[in-house]
Amino acid sequence: MNANFVRQAADYVLEHLKETPTIGLILGSGLGEIAARIEQAVKIPYAQIPHFAVSTAPGHAGCFVAGRLGGKPVICMQGRLHFYEGHSMEDIVFPIRVMKLLGVRTLIATNAAGGINHDFSVGDLMLIQDHINFLGSNPLIGKNDESFGPRFCDMTYTYTPALRESAQKQAHRMGIDLKTGVYLACSGPSFETPAEIRAFRTWGADAVGMSTVPEVITAAHCGMQVLAISLITNMAAGMQEESLNGQEVIELGKARGRLLEQLIENVILHTSTL
Ligand code: HPA
Repeated sequence: MNANFVRQAADYVLEHLKETPTIGLILGSGLGEIAARIEQAVKIPYAQIPHFAVSTAPGHAGCFVAGRLGGKPVICMQGRLHFYEGHSMEDIVFPIRVMKLLGVRTLIATNAAGGINHDFSVGDLMLIQDHINFLGSNPLIGKNDESFGPRFCDMTYTYTPALRESAQKQAHRMGIDLKTGVYLACSGPSFETPAEIRAFRTWGADAVGMSTVPEVITAAHCGMQVLAISLITNMAAGMQEESLNGQEVIELGKARGRLLEQLIENVILHTSTL
């Protein structure tokens, strides 16, 4: 990744910001509405930012929204890029490095996912405790830029234990039965087969989706804390009678997404280390 390009994009965004964000948010399919809760919001369309690639995925708006959420300065990616759109890993994680240069220390990511764990139900929220990268690629492949992080990046504590604890505490306070589990990322765009889902279950996966892992790896590499939560929009292939379609993912995101947004806002508000 060209470090000058990251700098140029960050400089452009900085010119439009009222204050330095310390928290970066990525919103998943149908989960973009938390941006409406951001106070003193400044919107910056990706299309105007130098070197930014633009998302074509349904349910993704395509802009940064910066301002205050839960009393803290945030910058939110309303819409993200996916591997299945044909974007390079470099383009997918470019905004994470831009956020790093803006001053972001914590990444909070949401996504829509299919439930693999038999104890999950549609509409559940799952706190990601770890992931399995089944994308067939890694955003850190290529020349390493030491100014962001080391060549070989430790992934043991990627999903920051203190933030997970804080999320559990806030969920409990709100009466949410927050599930915990391992997120497995597939490239898509075809949904998984029932045989793949059975295999993933034996590997220890609890949910499956098509995003998040590249951004999280990049955030971990540059030393950010990470919190990530999935909304279970459907049970994975072969676990429900109906076949899967992308529309239910977006519709369910709209309904249960509001609860996920409140949870995230409470975590930001009540976590003193953020
Ligand atoms: N598989 C992959 N990605 C998804 C799913 C799924 O079942 N549901 C939402 N995103």
